[in-house]
Amino acid sequence: MKLHIAVLPGDGIGPEVTGEAVRVLRAVAAEQFEITFEELPIGGVAIKAQDTPLPETTLQRCLASSAVFLGAVGGPEFDALPRAKKPETGLLGLRSALGGFANLRPAIAYPALVECSPLRPEILKGADVLFVRELLGGLYFGEPRGFRDTPEPPAAFNTMIYSKPEVERVARVAFEAARGRRKKVTSVDKANVLECSQLWRQVVVAVAADYPDITLEHQLVDSCAMKLVTAPAAFDVIVTENLFGDILSDEAAALTGSLGMLPSATLGGKIDLYEPIHGSAPDIAGKGIANPLGAIATAAMLLRHTAKREAEARAIETAIRHVLEAGYRTADLKRNARERLVGTTEMGDLVLQAIERHAVASS
Ligand code: NAD
Ligand code: IPM
Ligand code: MN
Repeated sequence: MKLHIAVLPGDGIGPEVTGEAVRVLRAVAAEQFEITFEELPIGGVAIKAQDTPLPETTLQRCLASSAVFLGAVGGPEFDALPRAKKPETGLLGLRSALGGFANLRPAIAYPALVECSPLRPEILKGADVLFVRELLGGLYFGEPRGFRDTPEPPAAFNTMIYSKPEVERVARVAFEAARGRRKKVTSVDKANVLECSQLWRQVVVAVAADYPDITLEHQLVDSCAMKLVTAPAAFDVIVTENLFGDILSDEAAALTGSLGMLPSATLGGKIDLYEPIHGSAPDIAGKGIANPLGAIATAAMLLRHTAKREAEARAIETAIRHVLEAGYRTADLKRNARERLVGTTEMGDLVLQAIERHAVASS
């Protein structure tokens, strides 16, 4: 097997966490399979160098790769740019061109991190939620959109739109995923108000007929946000539209410890896309203190889904757990004096050592 990964570090802490994920991928591949990397600009760095957030060569090279690994894009210096020039527009253009519509975001409450959660341990206990976020539809891509200057007053508008096939395909991903888990799907919508959600619900119910072994429940998005903080362990797979999934997954990340912990995989298109769910974190960029574990766990997802290397994916996930159990913490996770504060590269080193120890122990 040969893997060629397009690596798009992007902005802020993107390059810092991506560097650690790439190191881990290299080490795990070692003599087992061939893996090569090609670094390409996206987002703010691409705007500065080439006046566009998604250069054509970046896009073409991504389309020619086995998978794309992206750090994060964006930052305050680009916020005032017109939409076509924004780093985020580059990311959305990439997502749309790669075609992946199912964005998997697992949020797991590691026992070692209970103190990082704002929730009481007895409420958090056992939480293990897989978000299946629809990634190519809804308000993010709906037309028409824009600003309106006349007639007065100035106004702005976006369109939330979903077609039956768009809902069907992402629902199937959720039901399939539930089969390998606790066999429950919660479909999250706002069907009491939005037509989009009414169609969403109808289509999910129809798809569920093909999965009699899976329990389906529906939850309105507002009460889902509430239930995530009162009974997170009640969820197994949550399938939801683009914006709801964006918001709820950040909430779940914070509940389970830190935004820096959550990985993601975007599947179903021409080329799979892997990104930690966090952003460029301008407040801590360049300090070497960012948590690389979300990016490293994202590398594990790449090995699982694109490379079909389940054993290697698990080795990375086990190593992450061991490092946390041994008390090592980046700044976002440190809560008490017993824990050892480490920086981004040191955390990467620790994961690499844990993988190595495990490989030696099991050989
Ligand atoms: P953010 O995710 O960048 O940061 C939110 C908070 O979480 C900050 O306090 C940050 O320091 C912290 N944080 C995030 N990741 C962390 C990590 N790995 N380790 C330690 N702490 C971490 O969200 P924001 O501040 O709202 O957005 C900043 C920029 O990032 C914006 O331009 C936004 O558009 C962009 N963004 C990009 C992506 C992406 O590229 N996939 C995702 C989200 C946000
Ligand atoms: C994410 C981010 C992106 C999104 C932004 C940067 C476009 O918040 O990946 O969660 O909203 O999808
Ligand atoms: Mn987000």
